[in-house]
Amino acid sequence: LDASGADALLDLLDAHGVLHLPDQPLSPEQQMDLGRLFGPLQRTDYGLRHPDHDEIVHVTDVRKEDRITERWHADSTYVPDELTVCILQAVRVPPSGGDTMFADQVRAHDGLSDGMKDLVDGLRTIHTGSAFARLMGADPADAPRRTHDVVRTHPRSGRRFLYVNPAYVDRFEGMSRDESRGLLRTLFDRASSPDLVYRHRWSVGDVLVWDNRTCQHYAVHDYGSAPREMWRVSALDDGSGTPAARSAVSSW
Ligand code: SIN
Repeated sequence: LDASGADALLDLLDAHGVLHLPDQPLSPEQQMDLGRLFGPLQRTDYGLRHPDHDEIVHVTDVRKEDRITERWHADSTYVPDELTVCILQAVRVPPSGGDTMFADQVRAHDGLSDGMKDLVDGLRTIHTGSAFARLMGADPADAPRRTHDVVRTHPRSGRRFLYVNPAYVDRFEGMSRDESRGLLRTLFDRASSPDLVYRHRWSVGDVLVWDNRTCQHYAVHDYGSAPREMWRVSALDDGSGTPAARSAVSSW
């Protein structure tokens, strides 16, 4: 793929949210090269890092009780530099189970009543990485947080989408958790309604590319202690479009 190929993939992402590229096993370098077509890569120095590349998150050996990805979420919505396009490759899959579900947040917004659209438009929520900090043994008080509009407009497609997830949204800006709970529950239910969901059954060598703004996902942990190994790279939106502009290691 060259830059025009990446543009074609972006057009498809704008139309579909998630793309399945079957039977395309990639080396770590190839997967990073693919990610760099969409922007500078997120880097991590945390426990889930690939042993040789801090641009690759190594999703493996996570116990069910520690699995924060077994909730509806978009990746790292609390960090300062937004993750725009994520690429997940199946390296080892369990004999059964281990699917990943994706929910379309453009249609989640489209399906709201006019009254609900009016109510939530203009509201903002606080996203926090405290659950991830706890998992990594870090102090949740130090976790990054970021405020986002509940309803956003996609910079390329111009489509409106819902942007709240139960893994990282703490509360509405200017409201307490108690006050936020009811309306957030309603929005979380809408965001993950079964009619919005694509469920992917993995094979080794599958590569999924998704728009991390317009999709949420949920990794189903129903495979006991069977091995499951995935590599993820994520392109960041730093506004400059210049991969070399970003060299700092992000802990999150
Ligand atoms: C993730 O949440 O990025 C990982 C998804 C998965 O393990 O299927």
